[in-house]
Amino acid sequence: MDEKLKIFYALYERRKSIREFSDKDIEKDKLERLLETLRRAQSAANRQPWHFIIIEMDDRKNLNDCLTKEGFKNAPIIIAACAEPQKAWIRKADVVNYAWVDVTIAITEMIGAATAEGLGTCWIAAIDPARVKDILGIPSYIEIVALIAIGHPLNPLLKEEKNRKPLEEIIHYGKW
Ligand SMILES: Cc1cc2nc3c(=O)[nH]c(=O)nc-3n(C[C@H](O)[C@H](O)[C@H](O)COP(=O)(O)O)c2cc1C
Repeated sequence: MDEKLKIFYALYERRKSIREFSDKDIEKDKLERLLETLRRAQSAANRQPWHFIIIEMDDRKNLNDCLTKEGFKNAPIIIAACAEPQKAWIRKADVVNYAWVDVTIAITEMIGAATAEGLGTCWIAAIDPARVKDILGIPSYIEIVALIAIGHPLNPLLKEEKNRKPLEEIIHYGKW
């Protein structure tokens, strides 16, 4: 395999959810590159129905109380990824609103970039959205999709076998 391809695939083999972070801050240039991946992400009809709140440690007292795992509280940055359904593309056939899909794509692209930067991330869905919205002053018409904890992992990112379903169980050729 071509060297560049190897590097690309190795990135996804390394990515895993990180729930323990070191005290080291995220370098400013790294954070800027991560934010650029959010900005550049694809979205249905290019509607970009998203907002991202960057919450550093100094602004975290109340938010940290909402986090279920102690390790998340030590992440130097938490990003609240938010959807604005009114701005999103809606599929006519079944009236499905694509806001959450779009926000999820942007987050996923940023997670890939964070992994390439040697950073660890964890998607946090287990929150009380109403409480988090209140703490962060998020308007009622905005939905919070996820909190993403980002920081330098306490332990190195190693390639490891993941507990995943076999291909035969999930890939269907031609029809179901
Ligand atoms: C939509 C979504 C929500 C998740 N919510 C949480 C969460 O609330 N708390 C947590 O510790 N991990 C959460 N995770 C991480 C998953 O548990 C993790 O991705 C899964 O176990 C696979 O492990 P890996 O990410 O290390 O490959 C979430 C992941 C996704 C994609």
